[in-house]
Amino acid sequence: MRKTLGARTLIFVCQTATDEEDNMDYSSHRSLGQAPHQVQESNRTWWEGNPMTYDWHGKNSTEPHSRKWFDEIDRSFVAASFPYLSSHRPFDRIMPETLAGKRVLEIGCGMGLHTEELVTRGAEVTAIDLTESAVRATKARLAYKGLTARVQETDAEDLPFDDGEFDLVWSWGVIHHSAHTGRIVRQIARVLAPDGETRVMVYNRESLIARLLLCRHYLLGAEFRHRTPDEVLWAHTDGYLARYYHPEQLEDMFLGFFTTAQVTVLGQDADVVPLPARLRSAPLHWLGDDRRRAAAGRRGFFLFVTAQAPLGTGARQ
Ligand SMILES: C[S@@+](CC[C@H](N)C(=O)[O-])C[C@H]1O[C@@H](n2cnc3c(N)ncnc32)[C@H](O)[C@@H]1O
Repeated sequence: MRKTLGARTLIFVCQTATDEEDNMDYSSHRSLGQAPHQVQESNRTWWEGNPMTYDWHGKNSTEPHSRKWFDEIDRSFVAASFPYLSSHRPFDRIMPETLAGKRVLEIGCGMGLHTEELVTRGAEVTAIDLTESAVRATKARLAYKGLTARVQETDAEDLPFDDGEFDLVWSWGVIHHSAHTGRIVRQIARVLAPDGETRVMVYNRESLIARLLLCRHYLLGAEFRHRTPDEVLWAHTDGYLARYYHPEQLEDMFLGFFTTAQVTVLGQDADVVPLPARLRSAPLHWLGDDRRRAAAGRRGFFLFVTAQAPLGTGARQ
């Protein structure tokens, strides 16, 4: 009886926590038969068709690219990340409080919330994205708010910037979607000043959500019959491709191009209590802020790497 109950609970959690009732396109994704050099065009097409609006359930009925539309996007983005990334202003736990006079490159600006945060902290920002839709949205956002940044359509795998041009390279949820993630890390190291720093978020292979996705689709859904575990994760995650990293692998990749690197696990409420939002508030309240943060830091979906002092010539070739 106990075993049956346990198995049913596991199936319920696997299914509800990884519920795909959202408006993303999961029909198009990479398979291992496709070599990385064949992936980038599909990566671009996927994000042109599914810009990152944080409107998973099609609830944002305001006019796209209007001021209200951006406000609604920010509300969902910031609500999802509080209290793990913010104390009093968005992302202040992970973004320097002031960036006055700093030259900052943002890779993969999407709808521009991070661009806005970087500019309002005083940075001289260059924001790039692979897609025309993200560039248009970020420019519209900045115009509404009377803010200025250089925003351009560019593939981060081949940055058109000089060696050492930036003090900080920022990227949130981008480089693991690209065909050659390692090439981007190498480019980041090249465009950073010798005392520069990068801060980058990718997905965590050891997160609870990754395990539940594998449990639901690889095991219970029997996808092991025709997909590898990586292919299962790609097929049920945003993007045409989304590499998941173990903390140690991520640190190792950055240490190939930087003198020092640190990886931390960050997470949202869904990582702490893997239930639909409407069932989450009571258990979260019961846990309290400290235990919520600690749980998110153990099993959260995001790996946040900071790396300093790019290595010299190797990275710059
Ligand atoms: C998950 S969204 C994140 C957007 C934004 N950083 C945010 O947090 O809302 C991924 C973004 O990365 C962009 N992207 C993917 N590969 C890229 C590449 N190689 N170079 C530049 N941007 C890329 C996509 O176009 C998309 O806008």
